[in-house]
Amino acid sequence: MFSQKRILTKVALAVLASGLTLSAHAVTTLKLSHNGDEKAPVHIAMKHFADLVKDKTHGEVRIRIYPNGQLGNQRESMELLQNGALDMAKSNASELESFDADYGAFNVPYLFHDREHFYRALESKEVGDKILDSSRQYGFIGITYYDAGARSFYTKKAINTPADLKGLKIRVQPSPTAIKMVELMGASPTPIPYGELYTALQQGVVDGAENNINSITTYRHGEVAKFFNLDEHTMIPDVLVISTKTWDKLTPEEQTAMKQAGRESMEYMKQIWSENVDAEMKKAKDMGVTIVTVDKAPFIDAVKPMHDEALKNTAIADYVKAIDALAQ
Ligand code: GCU
Repeated sequence: MFSQKRILTKVALAVLASGLTLSAHAVTTLKLSHNGDEKAPVHIAMKHFADLVKDKTHGEVRIRIYPNGQLGNQRESMELLQNGALDMAKSNASELESFDADYGAFNVPYLFHDREHFYRALESKEVGDKILDSSRQYGFIGITYYDAGARSFYTKKAINTPADLKGLKIRVQPSPTAIKMVELMGASPTPIPYGELYTALQQGVVDGAENNINSITTYRHGEVAKFFNLDEHTMIPDVLVISTKTWDKLTPEEQTAMKQAGRESMEYMKQIWSENVDAEMKKAKDMGVTIVTVDKAPFIDAVKPMHDEALKNTAIADYVKAIDALAQ
């Protein structure tokens, strides 16, 4: 939150406005909440973001990061942020879909052809920038995106086709699109916050989940789910957001510094994520997890109706069309 120091400095300046030359700098400290581990690439990228913001604002804006859901899970953090009790949060497009329907565009399965296509969309004005700016009316705006890889099913048995998912309870994020996708693939979607998932897998509350390779390794889900099935149904970006109450108190120079730091840390994340994936795949194998290579065609067929529906959904149709056009 805005520290009292800034107010006190202003008071001090007013009191001392008697010809004295003061070079006091007010320091604004912003709290940033996320549900990830300190070893996760996204935490490292946000530390880089914090360093960049500090440099670009000459130490006037500092970001204090609270990892591991200390300030609440992703949903709770967003609610705190909307109420003005928290400055910043790292969420992802799946979770944000329930706060701002525009984010649902990223969640349509098999929308991105590859990582380059995904980045062309994130870095574009008509998709990436527009979605970051679309949520002001809901009390927050997006600063930047962070790579979170491709999401695949992981379970206690190999999933070679959607038929193998039949009857399985699969944990999903609280996203209408993720729920629909898992239903069309033939499984039963079960929304559970990420921080409760390890125990849910261990106790058999769910038979599996869907996420990137770091869930297997950094979050140790591979201790329970021994098959990571590479169907790669979605590429869902993490998103760094800020409360509009906090944003509006920053000076235009500070806002520009935040945006620039966001874009630079996104580039940094792009690089560290690429380095991370191969190493994490190897770690997963060392944990005894089987990486299953699948023919994606039947998975793509199972969710095809979702793309057609997305083109009829006024909240996201224009984005989906623009993303399709960026495929070449
Ligand atoms: C990814 C994402 C997180 C999210 C998690 C989930 O790991 O980076 O922001 O919480 O998926 O499935 O809940």
